[in-house]
Amino acid sequence: MKNHTLELFPPAAPDTRHEPLEPGAWLLRGFALAVQMPLLAAIDRIAAIAPFRHLETPGGFRMSVGMTNCGTLGWVSDRTGYRYDPCDPLSGRPWAAMPRVFLDLARSAADVAGFADFEPDACLVNRYEPGSRLTLHQDRNERGYSDPIVSVSLGLPAVFLFGGDSRSDKQRRIPLQHGDVVVWGGPARMRYHGVLPLKEGHHEATGSQRLNLTFRRAG
Ligand code: SIN
Ligand code: FE2
Repeated sequence: MKNHTLELFPPAAPDTRHEPLEPGAWLLRGFALAVQMPLLAAIDRIAAIAPFRHLETPGGFRMSVGMTNCGTLGWVSDRTGYRYDPCDPLSGRPWAAMPRVFLDLARSAADVAGFADFEPDACLVNRYEPGSRLTLHQDRNERGYSDPIVSVSLGLPAVFLFGGDSRSDKQRRIPLQHGDVVVWGGPARMRYHGVLPLKEGHHEATGSQRLNLTFRRAG
């Protein structure tokens, strides 16, 4: 009798969904898909407490990305500089607490990337509309750099720029899709990174937007 076992049950394909980018940096494809609905519902609740706003840079430019925060610390920018603030400067009130589903997702992504016991206290929520971009920068307003950055993409695709430790270093262009998670820490913690201008489009989960959650241990 002919044996069909191999055809019916091919050996499992190698797990290319967890892609090492470089030492300390991982792209976890689709890692957030299973919790996309609770993530999006939580973002609505966070934005109801502290609405998305276009912050002003110290140099006086209006950021094209809309931002809000949850957690005990929130990242803000104004004419005086960048900082983490326990309160929303617009209302003077604390940011929304970090939802359990955010914490669990950030921790498990950090774990998979080799960073155990990640306890983020800050989650920046970024909202990109067509044309919004984030220029090349390092995340360096945190108190220490021993914890990784965990970055979750939802909605429209974007091109993530992942560079070196100097602004002028060549950057990789990494296409990010709905549900993808990027983690960078350890030797990759201070990498310059950014997002190219968002292209027009429609995504069934977010409409004409891309949402990004960036988890950090800031304080
Ligand atoms: C960030 O660097 O804060 C956001 C990155 C992203 O939107 O993917
Ligand atoms: Fe960043």
